[in-house]
This record gives sequence, structure tokens and C-alpha cells, in this order.
Amino acid sequence: MALQMEKIIDETKQGEAMQLDHQNGGKKLYLESYGCQMNFSDSEIVASILQKEGYMTTGDASEADVILLNTCAIRENAETRIRARLMQFNKIKELNPGIVIGVLGCMAERIKSELLEQEKLVDLVVGPDAYRDLPSLVEQADDGQKAVNVLLSREETYADVSPVRLNSNGVTAYISIMRGCDNMCSFCVVPFTRGRERSRDSESILHEAKYLFDKGYREVTLLGQNVDSYRWNMNRAGEVIDQEKEAINFSILLEKVAQVNPQMRVRFSTSHPKDMTNEVLEVMARYENICDYVHLPVQSGSTSVLKNMNRGYSREWYLERIAAVRKYMPNAGISTDIMTGFCHESDQDHQDTLDMIHEVRFDFAYMFAYSERPKTMAERKLKDDVPEELKKSRLAEVIAVQRQYNFEHLKKKVGKTYKVLIEGVSKRSDEDFSGRTSQNVVMVFPHEGKKKGDYVLVKAIDCTSGTLMGRIVENQA
Ligand code: 5AD
Ligand code: SF4
Repeated sequence: MALQMEKIIDETKQGEAMQLDHQNGGKKLYLESYGCQMNFSDSEIVASILQKEGYMTTGDASEADVILLNTCAIRENAETRIRARLMQFNKIKELNPGIVIGVLGCMAERIKSELLEQEKLVDLVVGPDAYRDLPSLVEQADDGQKAVNVLLSREETYADVSPVRLNSNGVTAYISIMRGCDNMCSFCVVPFTRGRERSRDSESILHEAKYLFDKGYREVTLLGQNVDSYRWNMNRAGEVIDQEKEAINFSILLEKVAQVNPQMRVRFSTSHPKDMTNEVLEVMARYENICDYVHLPVQSGSTSVLKNMNRGYSREWYLERIAAVRKYMPNAGISTDIMTGFCHESDQDHQDTLDMIHEVRFDFAYMFAYSERPKTMAERKLKDDVPEELKKSRLAEVIAVQRQYNFEHLKKKVGKTYKVLIEGVSKRSDEDFSGRTSQNVVMVFPHEGKKKGDYVLVKAIDCTSGTLMGRIVENQA
């Protein structure tokens, strides 16, 4: 599990510089992204908007005219890391004072005054709904003025902006289907950093999926903070349709995207246990090209903690949803997010989380210690009363238990054959390809004359802690 566990423990791996696959114009942009898939997808919007202004990206910050960090605010350590990075970029600026340094994304609103005025670490601060304003704000910053736009919007979905695919393998791509979140989980800063939930025009989503398929892409991941509440209820003239039956919900959208081409795989993230419907599971089961994989964040195994988190479901409800996933897709891969040490979490609550892991036997989990965030309901109403040490030791326990299941699931797959979409050359060896099964398991196997974007049957012959090693075979037997 080395690679994936690293993701959990060492989040610095998530900061990633990006390079455009197209290059034009004379000015250079260095763009680094942190946090979730949504942020990486947003960076592709940013690159598209700035490319129109003649910016090409560079992987070398020291030669850039503009350095942008697309930031994450989900936990305190994400913010600490980004501050340290800004200090490093300011060293480059000392040598070249003409460089514009900017902060985008989720940290923008919260720390705009600190970063701009008190610490003077940045020239530009732009929130997630204001990227269309970037060209004029960069110009303003270039003229030596501080440039800020952190306004959140109720409408912006960037539906008409065609993202520039960054660091692309040419096979898999993200499509953002909605923005913001209305759920108000008490621990979560997202409703404050990304604003109200809004869905993107379904036609523009389908158009993007078709375009990607024509360009040779073979997998799309539909992105939203809570995809189950996707709802598009406008007709082509932009009028609101009142009839419930004419509105497009997530299960209808998912089916339409799956119908773009049976050779294009469809994934999505993230589902919410309180909203994930049987209709969605039924569509997933019906289409071979919709991957048999669900990421369903549980957060805690204790109903009383879930209540404090304002998650809108109980332990029993969650277990019933898992049973439903397995009923519709007996071989589905299931992953989750788990948080330890939330306000008032007792030893018994923690035990309930461990029991939940044993009961569900997740294929994979992202695990975190609770970090209090400003403005959230928990910060205002609940005491952050689990000592830091205890949060960490509970986290270590949760990680140790889950790690056994990660490995157990992989071991059980050895000897079986899976359909894999080839995503590119393996990181470990040029002789090998790497791709994923429908259940989202990474497989590594020798080339055998195949190419990126091909589907192949791969028999698993061995596994490491996070990957299946295999060889291409002709048929399932
Ligand atoms: N502290 C720790 N983890 C958090 N997450 C969200 N907010 C916090 C927080 N304040 C975790 C949740 C969520 C994932 C994206 O990040 O588990 O599902
Ligand atoms: Fe993504 Fe959430 Fe981080 Fe914002 S705070 S970048 S939405 S993970």
C-alpha cells in the first residue's frame, strides 16, 4: 500500500506543479495545485483562461512571470504547508521583483488580508468563483497594485470554459459537474470557501464528455462535492422546468454520460451516504462502462459523533447503503474517508469506528485526525476537546486496522483476471504499463505490444501492499 498510504500520511505529495500540453504566447505561468480532485480540475480552468491571454506554463518557478498556488483549506496542515511554499517563492521574487505571486482557491477568502497586507507574501488573491477575472487581476498586480476578488457566486460553473488538460496522460480526465456544497457538515470549511451548491448545465457536461472521447480519452470522472444532489432543471432556452420528471438528476446524468460511448469508462466522486440513491446504483450495475467503484465517506462509525458532525445519517443507515451497493454490484470496490478525534469522541465512539472498518471491510480509506476550521459550526458550537495526542493515536490505530484490509483485498484478487484500461507507462519500470481495474485497483504489467488507451485483460499474479502485478492474457479463464 506504500503509494496510497503515503497519500494519507504525507500530504506534501499532493502539491503538484502542472504543465500545459499546449504552449503559446510569451509569458510564463507556474501553477501548483493542492487538495482535492476538484482543485486540480479548477487549475485546468485557470490554465485555459490564462492561455487565452498568451500564457504558457512552465515547470520551473524561477523562470515564471506569474506563480499561482491553487490552495486547500480543509485541514490546518494544508495551510501551513502552503505558507512555507509561499516563503520559498518570495525568495525567487527577491531576485526577480517583477514576478507576480498569487493565491487561488480555498484559502483565498480566509487569509486574504493576512497574506496581502500583514505578511505581504502575495500580490494576488482570487477565490474559486472569480477565475474569469484573473487576466485583469494579473494585469493589476503587474502594475504594482494589490489585486483581490474572493466573491462567491450562486451561478458560476465555468460551463463554457474548455479546460486545458494539465499533466494529462491523454486517457483519463475530470469533468466538473457541480460546484460548492450546501450540506453544512459541522467540521467542514468547504461551504465557506466554495459557496453554495450549483449544478452545471447537463448539455455542456455531455458535450465535454463527447469531445474528450473524440480526442482519444477513455475515462471520465464526474466531480462534485456531493454528486448525488446534482440537479439540472433548465431547458435550452434557460427557462426553469418545474416538472420534477423533466429535471435531470444524477442517475439520469450518469446514464447519459455512460451512453456517450460504451468504450468510455465513467467514474464519479464524491457520493454522500445520506443522498446516494438506489437509482444511481441501478444505473451503475446496468452499464458495463460505469466503474464498479464507490467512494462513500463514512467519517465515523458512531451515530452520536455523526450527529455532532451533522452528517444526516446514522451508523445503521450507512451500513444499509453499503449493503445496497453490494446488492447491486457484488464485486464493487468501496472506499471511504474516516476522521478521528472529532469533538466529544469517546473511547466507545472510537471503538465503533474500528468496528465499522471490520464490518464493512473497505478496500481503501483516506484517514485524518480532526482539525478545527474557522467559521464552521463545530468551531462555533462544539468544544475541540479530544487532546491532539489522542487524535493521533486513534488515527494510527485506524490506519493499522484498515491497512490489513487493503492488503487482504489485494491478496484475494491474485489469480483472477481483470479488464484494465492502460493509462501509461508504470512509474517503476519503462517496460511495464499501469492501469486500473473497474474497482479502481492499480495493476502493473508488461507492455506486450499494447498501447495507452487500450483495454486489456490482465491476470493478477502477485501484489505489493498497494498494487496488483500481472500479465496480459487473451481471455478471462
Ligand atoms: N479535519 C479533518 N479532516 C477533515 N475532512 C474534512 N474536513 C476536515 C477537518 N476539519 C476530511 C473528511 C472529508 C475529506 C475530504 O477530508 O474526511 O471527507
Ligand atoms: Fe478541495 Fe476541500 Fe481543499 Fe477546497 S478545502 S481544495 S474543496 S479539499
